[in-house]
Amino acid sequence: MTEGSIDSRNLPEGEERVWLERARAGSVPRHIGFIMDGNGRWAQRRGLPRTEGHRAGVESLRALIPALIDLGVPYATFYAFSTENWKRPSEEVHFLFDLLVQYAKEDRRELTERGVKLRAIGQVDELPGAVRAAIRELETQTSSGTNLTVNVALNYGGRQEILRAAKDIAKSFAAGQIDLDKLSEAEFAARLYTAGQPDPDLIIRTSGEMRLSNFLLWQGAYSELYFTEVLWPDFRPVHLYKAVVDYAGRRRRFGGVTA
Ligand code: FPP
Repeated sequence: MTEGSIDSRNLPEGEERVWLERARAGSVPRHIGFIMDGNGRWAQRRGLPRTEGHRAGVESLRALIPALIDLGVPYATFYAFSTENWKRPSEEVHFLFDLLVQYAKEDRRELTERGVKLRAIGQVDELPGAVRAAIRELETQTSSGTNLTVNVALNYGGRQEILRAAKDIAKSFAAGQIDLDKLSEAEFAARLYTAGQPDPDLIIRTSGEMRLSNFLLWQGAYSELYFTEVLWPDFRPVHLYKAVVDYAGRRRRFGGVTA
């Protein structure tokens, strides 16, 4: 980051800055996954419709982008809409899609200026045309960003992603392009939406729920998991820094023994 860049201008003060410095001093994850949970409860506690929780949740996501850049995290994945979320009332589903379209339009410039490359992961082709178009345009406009890659998981399911990769392998096998005996994990992973990206070192889930809910199932095999009671709309950079400090204190063994 250069002196006078957008990110150094926006460095926080007080407690937040102390936690940012503590987080920077330790091991910083290369990829963080976020399960943004608790929007509905946040709204209900305020006597608001659930959808207002989602609107407030977008503000949390917005606040985290510069924080991730300040921290030096190169990849982040946000779980915005799962393959199971279609079961919600259709007004809520449409509200979420409208929010996405609005976000794609309103934040395009800021994301570009901050050097963010945004990508949608999931069955995007099954989404309504307006959502697809807004997302594809945002992907194109931010394609040269080098500070932070943000994956927005949309109509995403980990099992679906693995099944899709397996079908792709089967097709290549049928076409005589693959020797199954030599097929490696890396070649399989190259068929996932996150091809070419590091696996998440850390997955954060808000609102006290302790599940993966079909999120990054392959990629999260060795992720450290961090659960917080904070509801997503209340999740701010200081909470991210605290999670990263906690992560840095863990001993990752990847199935081996501690040195
Ligand atoms: C879970 O909270 C949250 C979601 C299913 C949606 C998350 C989406 C956003 C924060 C907006 C994303 C927008 C953009 C622009 C990426 P919940 O509704 O399940 O909360 P509850 O468990 O309290 O009911």
